[in-house]
Amino acid sequence: MDRSFHFRRRLAAQLLGVALAGMSAAAVAGCGSDVEKEGQGGQGGQGGQGGQGGLGGSGGQGSFFNTVTECFAWPQEGSGGAGGSGGAGGAGGAGGSMVPPCPPKGDALMHVEGMSDPGICGVVVNTEGTFDDGQCCYEVTYESCGAAGRPFLVEGRARAASRARGRSTWMESALPAPDLAGLSPDERALLAAAWTRDGLLEHASIASFGRFALELLAVGAPADLVARTHEAALDEVRHARLAFALASAYAGEPLGPGAFPFVGGNLSVSADLADVAARAVREGCIGETLASLVAAEQAARATDPAVREALAAIAEDEARHAELAWRAVAWALGSGDAAVARSVRAAFVEALAVGASFEVQVGGAGALEAHGRPEAAVLRASMTRALDEVVRPAAEALLGSLPAPAREGRERAEHG
Ligand SMILES: [Fe+2]
Ligand SMILES: [Fe+2]
Repeated sequence: MDRSFHFRRRLAAQLLGVALAGMSAAAVAGCGSDVEKEGQGGQGGQGGQGGQGGLGGSGGQGSFFNTVTECFAWPQEGSGGAGGSGGAGGAGGAGGSMVPPCPPKGDALMHVEGMSDPGICGVVVNTEGTFDDGQCCYEVTYESCGAAGRPFLVEGRARAASRARGRSTWMESALPAPDLAGLSPDERALLAAAWTRDGLLEHASIASFGRFALELLAVGAPADLVARTHEAALDEVRHARLAFALASAYAGEPLGPGAFPFVGGNLSVSADLADVAARAVREGCIGETLASLVAAEQAARATDPAVREALAAIAEDEARHAELAWRAVAWALGSGDAAVARSVRAAFVEALAVGASFEVQVGGAGALEAHGRPEAAVLRASMTRALDEVVRPAAEALLGSLPAPAREGRERAEHG
């Protein structure tokens, strides 16, 4: 697609410019050598953190792949008596004979809380359960969705609100309605679900920028970055409203987001520059760059005027957000703090190692593509190009050479 090709080239040049300017600033500040040293790979080559591109990588704090321990209360109602279904792990411990064994890992998925998060595109239970103190615990790897804007990550999970039916206050009224003629009920349902999910993830981007603005203040960032972050949060409000307007039109009823699920009602704000910079890499340099390029690809293929208008606006805004993230990371590297350079590098290495294996939503040719939902293979290829042609060159300009992508991830991207 010509239009998305030019968009990608333009964004690649733009981000490369930001990265090179960041390097120059770091050199002027007298810390270029530190950054360069990190860039030459002191920290461990291929897959330093992320493994070889499958789900087994043990991601650091907050990543597209993140491995955590998940527990649920056991036994549960209807889980059977002693000697239940024979899962590994067992009740363990003396005197546990009345407790049925933990479910086998294949059955544990239905109990894992994060499965219902709209920001989670894949979950793998890596281990059999172990029983401890009334709970069955498993090692679980979550894969955050890679293509729907800036995620709000908490301990590696992308959090988002749930859908609220009948909520019309999040619909962008200025957007013309999509043309529903020729869409089957199934296609309308699929489009409603897809745009609802995007709306929820755009809504989560507002929270992500809200937290980022506070963290920029906490690490003493310049006013320009703080101002642009607040402006970007307002863009995300508009994106959410565009997505919910489309979702509502396809669904034939008003749809919007419910309350945002801050854990325990609290928001954790980091004042650690290395931590803030690494999250900016994951949420912004990767998340928003991919979001922009995927939206551009969707827009280039969409023929419905309302859908095209929404996607084109989102693609332009996300490109600006991506640039903001790269500026923020370049500024953080300019501190000359070796811990910042290490954590930024690790975040890029991990994302580039596993990123090409992102799962994407199901779409299709014809009517679905016309309404902004091309086939999964198209989106996956778009993300791969985004990583190879935009993210990697800019990251290498900032940090020096990075390990080549994991082969397994690439094969999944090309053939999956
Ligand atoms: Fe957005
Ligand atoms: Fe964004």
